[in-house]
Amino acid sequence: MADFDKFYGEDTNSFYYPEPSSVLEKYIGLVSGKNLEALDLGCGDGRNAIFAAKKKFHVLCYDLSQNAIEKIDKLAQKENLKIIATVEDVKKLAFEDNKFDLIIASTILDHLDRKDSLTLILNIKRWLRMNGFVYIGVFTVDDPAYKNKHGLLLDIEKKLISETGDFIRTFFQKNELRELFSDFKEIFYYEGMKEDLSHGNPHFHGLARIFCQKIC
Ligand SMILES: C[S@@+](CC[C@H](N)C(=O)[O-])C[C@H]1O[C@@H](n2cnc3c(N)ncnc32)[C@H](O)[C@@H]1O
Repeated sequence: MADFDKFYGEDTNSFYYPEPSSVLEKYIGLVSGKNLEALDLGCGDGRNAIFAAKKKFHVLCYDLSQNAIEKIDKLAQKENLKIIATVEDVKKLAFEDNKFDLIIASTILDHLDRKDSLTLILNIKRWLRMNGFVYIGVFTVDDPAYKNKHGLLLDIEKKLISETGDFIRTFFQKNELRELFSDFKEIFYYEGMKEDLSHGNPHFHGLARIFCQKIC
């Protein structure tokens, strides 16, 4: 994980992804109640954790990158945000069942081996309280990094790959994320290609995003 650490450490005054995930931004208002608790898994340098904290959530967030967690800590102190950011492997986390009102897993399940990714999904389902919400984003088999791994890209198309494309371990199949959450109430689902101008050279991702609610 030292490689992501390098990206987050390059410019300590700017953020790797400057904006929160747009789907989270649009639907976070659905999460209601008092003393709301959120969990951000593989939080990076905190775009979503910081956004949730500014929406008055108490946030726990975890990432392997020391640089990323230090950045979040610095900002949380400066802006007096309720975020506890910790350097930890998401595979080692343990919480009581029904704890969180909101769980965020933005481009982390695809950075784990498939077995670990599926185990984390089961944990997410347990850690969420009834009627709690989850936001998940993953890269799919449409991603240029997947196609390149399988020799399906022309040389001229290789500039479409993210500079962190090599870190992706599990590319989700078409509709897979949606099916994995078919026991939840779907609020939003999108699957397709998207341009990414937030870091490195302009590139594309094949992605799936879901915002859904625990109902059983
Ligand atoms: C593509 S970035 C996404 C960051 C953030 N969620 C966002 O959307 O901006 C993937 C992140 O997962 C982290 N990561 C990868 N494997 C991890 C693991 N096993 N435990 C914790 N964090 C991990 C990396 O350090 C990196 O910050």
